[in-house]
Amino acid sequence: MQTEARPGIGSKYYRFLEDLGSPAFLLEPDTEQVVGANRQGLALLNRDFEQVSRMTWADFFSGGDDGRPALELAEAEETRVFYCDIAKRTDKSVPAKVEVSNATLGSRQLFLVRITDITERRQAEEALRESESLFSCLATHCLDGLCIHEDGKVLLANQAYCDIFGFSPTEMIGISSYAFIAPESRDDVYKKVSSAYDKAYEALCIKRDGTTFVAEIHGTKAQYRGREVRISVLRDITGQKKARDSARLHTLQMNRAQEEERKRIARDLHDGTIQSLASLILDLELAIRKEASSPELSHSLQHACDDARHIIQEVRSYCHELRPDVLDKLDLTAAVEALCSDLNRKGIRTFFDVSGTTRELQPDAELMIFRIVQEATRNIWRHSHAAQATVSVFFASKTVRLIVEDNGVGFPTPRTSGDQPLEGKLGLVGMKERAKSVGGTLIVRSASGKGTRIIFEADL
Ligand SMILES: Nc1ncnc2c1ncn2[C@@H]1O[C@H](COP(=O)(O)OP(=O)(O)OP(=O)(O)O)[C@@H](O)[C@H]1O
Ligand SMILES: [Mg+2]
Repeated sequence: MQTEARPGIGSKYYRFLEDLGSPAFLLEPDTEQVVGANRQGLALLNRDFEQVSRMTWADFFSGGDDGRPALELAEAEETRVFYCDIAKRTDKSVPAKVEVSNATLGSRQLFLVRITDITERRQAEEALRESESLFSCLATHCLDGLCIHEDGKVLLANQAYCDIFGFSPTEMIGISSYAFIAPESRDDVYKKVSSAYDKAYEALCIKRDGTTFVAEIHGTKAQYRGREVRISVLRDITGQKKARDSARLHTLQMNRAQEEERKRIARDLHDGTIQSLASLILDLELAIRKEASSPELSHSLQHACDDARHIIQEVRSYCHELRPDVLDKLDLTAAVEALCSDLNRKGIRTFFDVSGTTRELQPDAELMIFRIVQEATRNIWRHSHAAQATVSVFFASKTVRLIVEDNGVGFPTPRTSGDQPLEGKLGLVGMKERAKSVGGTLIVRSASGKGTRIIFEADL
């Protein structure tokens, strides 16, 4: 209410200034003296009206006369706008937007000065500048290709992106983003971009010289300078892919060699050891018949004969473990069912479930699934103390999913399987390697007291 009490500051000025709703002052054109101020104006300068009314135009600015915009400019018709630092009563100053215009109040011609504190805007601009320079520094030094696309065209690309494709940064601008994608991958990439797919995917890309390479692309929608854009990070993974493929092939070959070796041992045991034991039994039976006169001796011979039969049984079961005939004679589901029956016989209620449209798989793939179930059911028997287990196989049109689960004691799954081979535990690691060798995934879910679930899935 101070303004109303001041001589020269009529109540109409006060009402007029207050109604503006933001810091405002009235200045006398001749003396450049403040003759009116509203409460927001006083608060902005951190002064009371007494102090403000002693101020002239020059006192508003913290930079002295040099920083003082010429007030005369406002004598023109339109509003003048300045950006400068306004002095507060304390030594502080605030960055401000100053608008000066003419105001006719009653019979008096005055200058109306409106001031907006733009500290927050400055800070935001500063933060934006900093983040942009950080971004451009990261983009420059980033080894992956970075590109900003707008409306399907390149808006900005970093050096790595340009180097990958063989264009200079300026040549890049405006090129259609799909020009870098080889025709065979275009539909897929287009679908991913249109559905705002935000995970990494692989695509065949094409360079300026027409050569193609496999890239891993990760794109996301973003706002850039207030515009909706898509940012993509691109990496040439040709080398990585080759290494991955050759590691896969290596495992596949190792598995094949291992299977061949198992087959050979099983055959040797069958054709050699079992036949020798069989002829030993025959000899023993002959001896029993000849030595009927000595009950003690024939009892011992009978005992040896039973032992030999028992050994044959054991060797046969080793042969079966090494190379189950069921795999050669029957299909995969029958072989897996046989493993489930084994577990059932050992006292663990085991269910077997096949769904989808069953089909014959490549021999390698069938053997691999069989070996995974074999190891998983063996682990259930050895470690789980489960009462119940389930093996399910689901055939989809392209993929096969296998789940082996039990309701046993479970175990804390290690984050990495690196130490297990050192501890002589090869089962889980082997399963994962087998799954990888056909481009599939194998996940082990388990926790103490919560049972174990093994999920394998692959395009087969
Ligand atoms: N179904 C399960 N229930 C409870 N614990 C399990 C189960 N499967 C695996 N484990 C735990 O995980 C460990 C690693 O299993 P893995 O099959 O790799 O090795 P292993 O069975 O001990 O030895 P290997 O299979 O080489 O003969 C096991 O020692 C056991 O502690
Ligand atoms: Mg095991």
